[in-house]
Amino acid sequence: MIITMDGPAGAGKSTVARALARRLGFRFLDTGAMYRAVALAGKRAGLDWDAPDDLARLARSLDLQVAGDRILLNGEDVTEAVRASDVTAVTRYAADNPQVREHLVKLQRRLAAAEQNVVTEGRDQGTVAFPNAECKIFLTASPEERARRRLRDLQAQGEPVTFEQVLAAQQQRDQQDASRTVGPLRAAEDAVTLCTDGLSLEQVVDRLEKIAKSSSMPPVP
Ligand code: DC
Repeated sequence: MIITMDGPAGAGKSTVARALARRLGFRFLDTGAMYRAVALAGKRAGLDWDAPDDLARLARSLDLQVAGDRILLNGEDVTEAVRASDVTAVTRYAADNPQVREHLVKLQRRLAAAEQNVVTEGRDQGTVAFPNAECKIFLTASPEERARRRLRDLQAQGEPVTFEQVLAAQQQRDQQDASRTVGPLRAAEDAVTLCTDGLSLEQVVDRLEKIAKSSSMPPVP
């Protein structure tokens, strides 16, 4: 069974998808980490970001492996490195590149096919990568709630930012994610949308577990 989890940055998707996978005993696939790893490889190779074909060629040449919660780039564990802010800043070059997306979607399908049960998380999982998934979730939260969570994270890391700055950057990112010509962020028509405002992680995972279990039941004749 494939469960897709899409939604905007800051809705808590990663934490929720991981927790749901753990609870159900499913594999977890973090597809954002794959786009980040391609961007990291491009940065290390000193690629010209204005040459999308070069980035696509590089992406196709990489050995990307997803092992549990870790992502390996040509055998090196880059799980932490792909989260650095200088990599986040250039990840859009990978995410906006149609050839890179095509390659990574193929890889995501291959990885999922090798597993029986997967929770896969990203922006286009229910729409593009796995349109036939048995269970599709679209996780959201209000812009203010998402910005408050992000502000807490950044302040915990010692970054001197204000709520207004975080909210403005988030609006820009939402705009980029939604207006991408290939694989834009949107809910699949058959996705269940859940807004996480005011819900604890436990409450969100409880609801999703119920949704997942009801979608895996055979149809009533
Ligand atoms: O979820 P994340 O922050 O790790 O994602 C990193 C970037 O990759 C973000 O800009 C959205 C993009 N992305 C995407 O375009 N498609 C996916 N399936 C996953 C992530």
